[in-house]
Amino acid sequence: MVPLIEAHGARIPAIGLGTMTLKGGVCIQTVSAALQMGYRHLDTATFYDNEREVGEGLRVSGIPRDEVFITTKVRHVDLKPDDFERAVENSLSLLGLPSVDLLLIHWPSPDLPLSAYIPALCKAKRAAQTKHIGVANFTIQLLDEALKIADEPLVSNQIEAHPMLDQSKLIAACKKLGLAITAYCPIGRGKVAAAEVLDRIGAKHGKSGAQVSLRWLIQLGLIPIPRTSNPDKLKQNLNVFDFELNAGEMAEIATLKRPDGRIVNPPQAPKWDS
Ligand SMILES: NC(=O)c1ccc[n+]([C@@H]2O[C@H](COP(=O)([O-])OP(=O)(O)OC[C@H]3O[C@@H](n4cnc5c(N)ncnc54)[C@H](OP(=O)(O)O)[C@@H]3O)[C@@H](O)[C@H]2O)c1
Repeated sequence: MVPLIEAHGARIPAIGLGTMTLKGGVCIQTVSAALQMGYRHLDTATFYDNEREVGEGLRVSGIPRDEVFITTKVRHVDLKPDDFERAVENSLSLLGLPSVDLLLIHWPSPDLPLSAYIPALCKAKRAAQTKHIGVANFTIQLLDEALKIADEPLVSNQIEAHPMLDQSKLIAACKKLGLAITAYCPIGRGKVAAAEVLDRIGAKHGKSGAQVSLRWLIQLGLIPIPRTSNPDKLKQNLNVFDFELNAGEMAEIATLKRPDGRIVNPPQAPKWDS
């Protein structure tokens, strides 16, 4: 069974399945296979254009709805109050569910102030469209501002995190605020699989470089959401709770960080924490 991470009343399975780029039958099949092998946490978004298939995969799996933690996200172009409400209703209708477990702002708006959409996020929680609310791609400053506006607890910040990117300041700030941290691109879109250090450390534990990257994040207290449609990799990514990296290995992996380590940096991105 996957351990749970607690944050402001939410209990989030410590690893999840990322679903970006998974489409059609592959998405349905992958979601269903993942749940049947023990995953209990799914990450989707309006932007991924696969909420219908994620919902279908859940139903095909036969795993009861209340055993699965489902996250979806509102796009930064849907943050005006009327658009926000429509976007959430549309997500739930595509998923075929009355509510999700976690609703996130996918990216902070480059145009609107937080006061224009954080209240709508809180309202979605009060309307029982989601059990919990949170954000993604928020910097320390944006988190501080959002928390001043929110009248419901924010439980999570979803951020890019893998050994090639130094997110130590943001991670420390999220922890101080009691937020769970979900790690996207946790295997650097496959790039960490090519890192010799991770392979070498993995070999000592009978694990792959990708599994070492996931384990490193877990031991830092983060919740990785790796994505794959390959059944072997799917299984590998779940099998990261039966070994432990020692302090020396944790420190050596941290040396992989580099200034150009960020992978996801679209035009709407905020000014990142240095
Ligand atoms: N909030 C945001 O702004 C945001 C941004 C990006 C992503 N996300 C979320 O985070 C999830 C994960 O990020 P991601 O999909 O960008 O990147 P990722 O999970 O770091 O990498 C996916 C790539 O890694 C490969 N892979 C998976 N498991 C592997 C293993 N055990 N060994 C070797 N290679 C492996 C996959 O290969 P195959 O192609 O062979 O399966 C795929 O090419 C997304 O799916 C999405 O749900 C959120």
